[in-house]
Amino acid sequence: MFKTLCLRTPSWIHFGMGSVSKVATEAKRLGGKHVMIITDQGIVNSGLLTRVTDPLESGGLEYSVFDQVEPEPSLQTLQEASKIAKENKCDLFIGLGGGSSMDTTKMVSALMTNDGRLQDFFGVDNVKKRGLPTMMITTTSGTGSEVSRMAVFTDKKANLKKVVSAQNILCDVAIVDPELTESLPPHVTAATGIDAFIHALEGYIAVNSNPVTDTIALEAIRLISGSLGPAFAGKDREARYNMSLGSLMGGIVLNNAGAGVIHALAYPIGAEYHLSHGKALMPIFAESLREIAVSNFPKLKNIGLAMGLKIEHLSPLPAADAAIDGMVQLANRVKLPTALSDIKADKSKVQEWAQAAHGEQRLLGNTPVKLTLDDVAKIFERSF
Ligand SMILES: [Fe+2]
Repeated sequence: MFKTLCLRTPSWIHFGMGSVSKVATEAKRLGGKHVMIITDQGIVNSGLLTRVTDPLESGGLEYSVFDQVEPEPSLQTLQEASKIAKENKCDLFIGLGGGSSMDTTKMVSALMTNDGRLQDFFGVDNVKKRGLPTMMITTTSGTGSEVSRMAVFTDKKANLKKVVSAQNILCDVAIVDPELTESLPPHVTAATGIDAFIHALEGYIAVNSNPVTDTIALEAIRLISGSLGPAFAGKDREARYNMSLGSLMGGIVLNNAGAGVIHALAYPIGAEYHLSHGKALMPIFAESLREIAVSNFPKLKNIGLAMGLKIEHLSPLPAADAAIDGMVQLANRVKLPTALSDIKADKSKVQEWAQAAHGEQRLLGNTPVKLTLDDVAKIFERSF
């Protein structure tokens, strides 16, 4: 009954419209002499890169740019970025973009001080030394990578997602500027936004949830469920602001309470069909939640209430059902696939996915119901 808790966040988190202008001051405070910005072509083409390079130039800081990060980054991309970082003797790393760029940045920094190949760091706390200083500047409102100690890569040969989870890759400075998300296309707003929602939801019901993360999670759920639709629909600065704030909160919940079954089952689906992480979550979302709802009907009702659903009068069980339906409707409103048949998945692969998902014990162990291999396979089957 008396929980102990430990909260892990970057040393500094800057949030707000225009907060990206802090980048040069923070780079100097972190002692950067030669900054490496790690990003993707979309960020360069959209002009967002200059929101970072202009202040760095004004501040007299030298920088290199690696702009070849692809969605769901591969081991090879990391190796290329790491080689350039070492050749240029970079001493401060800025991840600018979505989860892919930020995750790559975390490991490029780690490889500056840790010997080994990326494969050696998969799993929990296998990065033994902190890397060189890092700053994360998110341009989406969803992954939470700017405040998380996780980095996800795709092993293209094995067609598997591999995760590094280590306190030593949590960044030094996170900058969350809603203005950087204003040109996000609707489908990215939807996929990253639902990812943020699920971070808050899974953290709220997780084994490792605590009173602090619970409070943050419910506010994240309130913000995201109220602003995802308007942000998806078009230019709405208030919705973008609320999505960025909700996403930051979701990331803090993810980093401290952890994710669970929904993330575990989404990994093989994302790898098999090359779906963005956010898009891979919803097809198995509802059935995963229904499977574990018995663990905490009142908490599921609280989620529905935070979403503004009129379920006060319902007892916990029907309220939880209504809350899950409400979450699926939220995803439908932003045109995300909500069943495996929506993505034309192949039912004959269920056992293979179940094996992969059941191997994610870091996540299943944090899920409030113990799930067997058979339970996991059944969730996949019911998700068609
Ligand atoms: Fe996620």
